[in-house]
Amino acid sequence: MEKLAILDCGGQYTKVIDRKVRELGVYTDIFPMGVEAAKLNGYGGIIFSGGPASVWESGAPAYDDAIFELGIPMLGICYGMQMIVDHFGGKVEAQYKTEYGQISIDIDPACPLFDGLEPVQKVLMSHGDAVSRMPEGFAQVASTGGVCAGVWSESRRIAGVQFHPEVDPTENGVAMLKNFARGICGFTEVYALEDRIQTSIDMIRRRVGKDGKVIVLVSGGVDSAVTAALLVKALRPEQVYGIHIDHGMMRKNESDLICANLAELGLTQMQRINAQDAFFNTPLTIDGESYPPLSEVCDPEAKRAIIGHMFFVVTEEAAKALNLDFDHAYLGQGTLRPDLIESGNPDVSGYAKKIKTHHNDVGIIRTLRAKGQVIETNWDWHKDEVRQVARMLGLDEAIASRQPFPGPGLGVRILCTDGGIVPDHKRQISLDAYKISADSPYELAIAPVQSVGVQGDHRSYRSLAIMAGQGLRVDWASLRDAAKDIPNRLDFINRTAYLINRPRIGGGMISTRSRICPETTDLLREVDDIVTSEIMVPMGGKPSKIAQCFAVLVPASTDGVRYSIAIRAVVTTDFMTAQSAIPGVDFPQEALANIVRRVQESEVAGKIDMIFYDVTGKPPATVEWE
Ligand code: XMP
Repeated sequence: MEKLAILDCGGQYTKVIDRKVRELGVYTDIFPMGVEAAKLNGYGGIIFSGGPASVWESGAPAYDDAIFELGIPMLGICYGMQMIVDHFGGKVEAQYKTEYGQISIDIDPACPLFDGLEPVQKVLMSHGDAVSRMPEGFAQVASTGGVCAGVWSESRRIAGVQFHPEVDPTENGVAMLKNFARGICGFTEVYALEDRIQTSIDMIRRRVGKDGKVIVLVSGGVDSAVTAALLVKALRPEQVYGIHIDHGMMRKNESDLICANLAELGLTQMQRINAQDAFFNTPLTIDGESYPPLSEVCDPEAKRAIIGHMFFVVTEEAAKALNLDFDHAYLGQGTLRPDLIESGNPDVSGYAKKIKTHHNDVGIIRTLRAKGQVIETNWDWHKDEVRQVARMLGLDEAIASRQPFPGPGLGVRILCTDGGIVPDHKRQISLDAYKISADSPYELAIAPVQSVGVQGDHRSYRSLAIMAGQGLRVDWASLRDAAKDIPNRLDFINRTAYLINRPRIGGGMISTRSRICPETTDLLREVDDIVTSEIMVPMGGKPSKIAQCFAVLVPASTDGVRYSIAIRAVVTTDFMTAQSAIPGVDFPQEALANIVRRVQESEVAGKIDMIFYDVTGKPPATVEWE
């Protein structure tokens, strides 16, 4: 059989490469970067993935030099290209050019990798290092502002691209992968994708057996619904227990809606647990470390650790109440591949960095998984694949197409800070200098809050930049371009939001004390409901293209007493990358004005100062702010 090897260098998208190539009908296997060349005998091509390392640092993943003696075609992606360049004597440098997000590049259509493509292409970049000197025997076949974005050695049949052809923002990425597999490697066979449903059912039956019991945590999203439906299909009804935990950080009316929707999954044993008090007010010891209650914590990773651990504690108690032997029961979770890769799970990649700890991959779950007690039907899939399975299983479209809601819920949408913090003066000066050099028409300010991003396969926790100046009459396309440039040029910013409820900030920004508590969750629930109802509406008679939309509570204002709100709406299929939705294109032009008006007319109006629209893609930001 024709086979292509993917060598994992720890990139966020290694599995996406695998999936996209398999969808082209080419069989693939993923190996760690350090694999011996001898193990690659029989493979007709190699793709090196991206990764968080730098080729010039001592910790860069080691590889077997003999790989380059195999004489088979190779494609290096991002870090993979830099590794090829370095191996063949070129030079890669830090900060030579940093790019995060979708950009236009020039390509040479004569290169077989770009066969049939136009000379200008939109691609996704996420890198802090860049090629500053080409290796001998390689031609530069793509560039961005004069800097190398692609290399090709005709004699060796080795290509490299600085961008990511595997993700959707690279508009012709699939064509490039096809050119590599079918054209350069010369693969002709067509490999058939496996039957996912039957494979899952077989796995569940093999692991749980005829008498095992599974407690499946159903959040209401499509992921856990698919897991529950597969468990019900594979096992006897009395073997499966559904539990929905309302941790006090759900959206408005969400738990009621979910429990009504879940009836159709065929779970005969289904329980809802209201656990706000336990989640907000329980101090915990996690992996030997003491944590105060959630309501006293600001650090995003600490919040995630506490919430993830509490899910386990509450489930264990529920199992006891059901007289289940928890030590011998299984825990069913709708964990997706991105949850594991973003959590830096070492079983998925030995080289990947942690971006954020997903609730379904905290320490206690890893321990349980190692004991073989966790059943995860979706662990190898991305969101759009789960949706396909949901439809194949016949689940209601309301569940199959439902926008995702993260396990930690509003807990990661309420940024927590102490009051009285003012923005870093030096950073404001750098931003002012940038405004002059870029001749930016917008007022630019640093907000006294930080949020999580993903840049060059690393986690970043950096400042939020606010843009203001033209209210809702702004040209969104040029605003987005300007916003994209800021994190590329200033290494302390990873997210940019535009002020929509007035033309100017109108004073210095200062942080407002905020914590996870009934006041903040209630406030955010109200605003989130307004935001979602205005933005998640059909456009031109078609269902909304927006994959996820929500409000974030930003603890900063001009008085340090009120909060501000950020609106987040993104377009994506697999959530590994995302684009900020464009008003008037992806949702009705009047939605933002309606949101401003409705918030001003609402009961919470007095508590809210500024309203922003988040214009950042992933990368450099993540979809959620924490
Ligand atoms: P990010 O913020 O990582 O989000 O770009 C990608 C997708 O993952 C969801 N998300 C989570 N889902 N548990 C989940 O079940 C989590 O801990 C978690 N964190 C983020 C997020 O809402 C988005 O859909």
